[in-house]
Formats: sequence, C-alpha cells, structure tokens
Amino acid sequence: MIARYYLLYASAIADTSFNNGLLHFTHSLEHLLSTVKPDLPHGLGLATLLPVVIKKIYPLTSEILVEIYDPIVPVLKGVPGKSEIISKKVEKWLFDIGITQKLSDKGFTESNISKLAHLAMASPSSGLLISMVPIKAEQEVVERIYKNS
Ligand SMILES: [Fe+2]
Repeated sequence: MIARYYLLYASAIADTSFNNGLLHFTHSLEHLLSTVKPDLPHGLGLATLLPVVIKKIYPLTSEILVEIYDPIVPVLKGVPGKSEIISKKVEKWLFDIGITQKLSDKGFTESNISKLAHLAMASPSSGLLISMVPIKAEQEVVERIYKNS
C-alpha cells in the first residue's frame, strides 16, 4: 500500500513536469517503437533509448543533465566532453536495475532504422516533441539514436 502511494505520487510529479517542460527525443522516438511493437512497454522503450539520447544531447545540456543525473553519476561537473561517460553510467544503472534489453532484443533490425526514423520525423504527434530537442533534430541523428540503442 505504501509503495503504491509513492508510485502514484511519483507519477503525479512526473506528469506535472511533462506538462510544464514538455518532452523531446526519448518519448517521441519511443512512441513509434511501442506503436510498431505493442508488446514493447513504453517505459522499457524509453530506457532503451535513454543512454544514446543523453549522449547526443549532453554537449549542449550538460549543466542541466549533471544536476538531473547527479544521484546516478555524481562525479560529473557539467563538462560537455563527458557525454560518453554519462551515457555509459546511465546505461550501467539501467542494467543494474534489470533493464538489459536493446532494440535488437525486441526484434528491431538495421533494416528497420531508416523507416523508423522517417516515421518518427513525419508522425503528426512528433512535431511538437521534436521541436523541443536541444540539438538539431535531423533524420540522420534519429537514425543514429535508433541504431545505437
Ligand atoms: Fe511518452
């Protein structure tokens, strides 16, 4: 009962932050994955994409991400050149809590990437989220995120 209370409370805080700050790459790219493969839970898809999204956006958002990820990667000081380190540490944290699957484990292959990226960029619901991405959100960036996830 207590766990359910805190989970519900956390989801309410998350929803408030989503509505105030909006979302970008991770959610917009994941929505497509779980649409194509409905057996992929949204949270698992998000976790699969997250390390690569962090790696891509860290150089321009390091001060923000250092604060957000401080409980997981406390040694970073917001230096843009540490994107590989934060990406790997977040990936390790995800592995440690049991999220070890990659997109290939869920049946996605290299041959899917170009079409997935095209759909991600063209989907009507992606426009607002893609517009919030802190880097230049081109199709080839999306392809690399899918490929490396
Ligand atoms: Fe979402």
